[in-house]
Amino acid sequence: MESNGELKRTHKCGELSLDNTGQDIVLMGWVKKRRDHGGVIFLDLRDRSGVVQVVVSPDINVDAFEMADGVRAEYVLAVQGEVRKRPPGTENPKMATGDIEVIAHDIRVLNTARDLPFYPGDAAGVDEALRLRYRYLDLRRPEYWHIFSMRHKAAAIIRDFLSKNGFLELETPLLTRSTPEGARDYLVPSRVHPGEFFALPQSPQLFKQILMIAGFERYFQFARCFRDEDLRADRQPEFTQLDIEMSFVDEADVQELIEEMFVHLFKGLLGIELTRPFPRLTYQGAMARYGTDRPDLRFGLEIVDVSRLLTDSGCRVFADPIKKGGVVRGICVPGGAVFSRKVLDELSALAVEWGARGLAWFILGEKGIRSPLLKLMKPEEVDSLVAEMGAKTGDLLLFVADQSKTAEEVLGLLRLELAKRLNLIDTGVFSFVWITDFPLLEYNEDEQRLEAVHHPFTSPKEEDLPLLETDPERVRARAYDLVLNGIELGGGSIRIHKQEVQKRLFSAIGLKEEDVQDKFGFLIEALEYGAPPHGGIALGFDRMMMTILGLSTIRDVIAFPKTQSATCLLTSAPAPVAEKQLEELYIRTALDEESDGEN
Ligand code: AMO
Repeated sequence: MESNGELKRTHKCGELSLDNTGQDIVLMGWVKKRRDHGGVIFLDLRDRSGVVQVVVSPDINVDAFEMADGVRAEYVLAVQGEVRKRPPGTENPKMATGDIEVIAHDIRVLNTARDLPFYPGDAAGVDEALRLRYRYLDLRRPEYWHIFSMRHKAAAIIRDFLSKNGFLELETPLLTRSTPEGARDYLVPSRVHPGEFFALPQSPQLFKQILMIAGFERYFQFARCFRDEDLRADRQPEFTQLDIEMSFVDEADVQELIEEMFVHLFKGLLGIELTRPFPRLTYQGAMARYGTDRPDLRFGLEIVDVSRLLTDSGCRVFADPIKKGGVVRGICVPGGAVFSRKVLDELSALAVEWGARGLAWFILGEKGIRSPLLKLMKPEEVDSLVAEMGAKTGDLLLFVADQSKTAEEVLGLLRLELAKRLNLIDTGVFSFVWITDFPLLEYNEDEQRLEAVHHPFTSPKEEDLPLLETDPERVRARAYDLVLNGIELGGGSIRIHKQEVQKRLFSAIGLKEEDVQDKFGFLIEALEYGAPPHGGIALGFDRMMMTILGLSTIRDVIAFPKTQSATCLLTSAPAPVAEKQLEELYIRTALDEESDGEN
């Protein structure tokens, strides 16, 4: 190959093997490392495919050697050379290309690099804020190439599956009216209509319903959604949903499609055969047995209600809450009798932190049962507790006596804590479960009104419809959530397609006729023009990838994530804008007014 003039890349670093031995090739990539070994320079050259060792010797080419002498880590190079089998004893089994090396004949520096704030190889130990500020350096890590190629592959498999099943991929607007999903909106001021605002969509919910009314029958979209809400490890202000809607379906049709899609995805992406159907739990069942509507079913530690055994107990810790309408519920921890007093104190402290008054414990030791409450209880009472909990010698029983909501919450969290401490979670297992029969409405104490548990377009169960006006909190929704390993992957429902029912629901959540017209007039109107029965689901695509890849933060599966305080450290967004821009938008901020006041 010519060594003067432009070099053209012929191969990728990570794809070279003994098969290429003797070939004259050109690579392009970044210097991962440079080592000087007494007159011979070794460069680890990296591109997206991987790393290969380049050997530069003055005996082969003096110019190339001089060039290599000046390069530093993260310089961008073109290297022309010959692939050769590594001399015996110098192979590197830790490197995918460790059997070979490239003997350089020509080296060109395509670009230099300053001293880096951190090197990609060390990034794992670097503060996240610095990594996000220099996200392009962080993303040079092979871990990310794996994550993002898996994300890409997952999207491709899903697109292909849904396309083959008659779904059309359609885009819905990003500049829209707000569709309330329970979070605050990100607003976009309109210049052309002073004082008016678009909202970025929290989800394409209403548009996908309108598409069904339009007759598209099967729609999907990888939809960017925006929610101004408190952030957690599995939440971002800007995230992607796999959004799906179908006409002429019931709950089972949607669930079946999604299960088939996951079977397909897991096989294609991970070579894992999932078993169908996924288990189903009612909301009430999930709350009672696992203390949460997103239970992790990879381990047992089920919650058991023992209230009926303790209504007349002489132990007031139990009897008092029951008298006040509360419950006593507990968990049997197999082998938990070995827990030290210190561990029990830690667990009690956690229970209190989570809202319980305390945590009652019974150790089923070899020499009998130990508990601070033992002397307050009749022996038969203790025996019946042990029997009801299915406990045996060596186990530990933990109980919370409180109002049922608190008991559920605390025991749900305790269950997870115990599973972690006892190492009960097999991280190689994928445990899906559908949660069904959610209540349609719940009372919002802060706002003193009923609100939709999912969203106000969710259909009530036909048989519960009469309760909408008389006992609204008892109405069950035709809604379902999909949970994987304790993480809510998605949720959906069969929608209301009759105008009359939609109006009743709005009225049940206290929306006045004029508010309904103002906010949802277009939907109410569309429901009058031949709306088919329809339903669907949205899966959090980032969350799904995070869970499938076993990662602990959603930020790892998003190329440019926001921080926990909703900022982009790379671009320093959000940021103030020029006064002129604000003027054009007819906007003055309250901050301006405050500083005007100071002047
Ligand atoms: P929902 O609000 O339950 O339903 O959202 C569906 C799924 O989107 C994911 N998700 C998020 N992921 C990352 N960051 C966030 N801030 C965030 N918020 C939600 C979750 C969640 O389960 N329109 C309905 C769906 C429907 O009824 O079809 C909706 O948006 O994984």
